[in-house]
Amino acid sequence: MDLTGVTLRDFLWNKRLAGGLNLALRRSRKHDRALLDTLLERLPAARADHVFVTGDFTNLALRPEFTLARRYVQRIADLVGTARVSVIPGNHDAYTEDAVVERRFEEAFAEWIGEGARGEWPYLQLTGSLAIIGCSSAVPTPFPRASGRLGEAQLERLEALLGRDDVRARFRVVLVHHPPVPQHGSELRQLEDRAAFAAVIARAGADLVLHGHDHREVRAELAGPEGRWVPVLGVTSATYRSSHADRRGRFNVYEVDPVARRVASVVSELA
Ligand SMILES: [Fe+2]
Repeated sequence: MDLTGVTLRDFLWNKRLAGGLNLALRRSRKHDRALLDTLLERLPAARADHVFVTGDFTNLALRPEFTLARRYVQRIADLVGTARVSVIPGNHDAYTEDAVVERRFEEAFAEWIGEGARGEWPYLQLTGSLAIIGCSSAVPTPFPRASGRLGEAQLERLEALLGRDDVRARFRVVLVHHPPVPQHGSELRQLEDRAAFAAVIARAGADLVLHGHDHREVRAELAGPEGRWVPVLGVTSATYRSSHADRRGRFNVYEVDPVARRVASVVSELA
């Protein structure tokens, strides 16, 4: 990788360890934390400027699960620096009302969610040429629902943040756990207000949207203002064992050009 002029060409690393972590606790035949350990060993070689973890972190939002997941995120932070890590919750991290009321996610990951630690979503992190906006689509849903919702207040705040001068001057990365584009499969797993999210992006613009949730590689787009298209990219679970190439555990390295406001390349590091 070309690291010269790193302020102009940042390397972003997006890995979804959450789903893997969570499911590894219960469905170990498909999910194997050893894959995650392997990927973490390779993290320094990726020389990422920033690491995004887009959930899920737990299975049932139990405290011991958060303790384990925090240990993994701390390992990432030890490797790349605490300020270079951003996380957002998945639906499993808000699995029960108790978990939400007790703010288990916010407690476990306070260092990596900005003002989200105070319950203010989405949070904003300004770091170098990046403006990172982390949304929470995690809401408790009765089984078998696994849908997500941002809600009006969060969408309003998202649009306001995207329009700020100090944000617009940077490469704007929006994080949301659920894919904000229509997915094949059941409506029970989708982002309920994805049309409203798409409308915000159409009005305010963004440069990259990253998500988790779907255990497969996703390459999509949303319309932005002035005829621009905003890449919407999803990554598989880091611990998923699969014979299907698009589902195998990995992390992705996104090379972005903040000046041209484009994603220059996406390279997958398979576990
Ligand atoms: Fe999920």
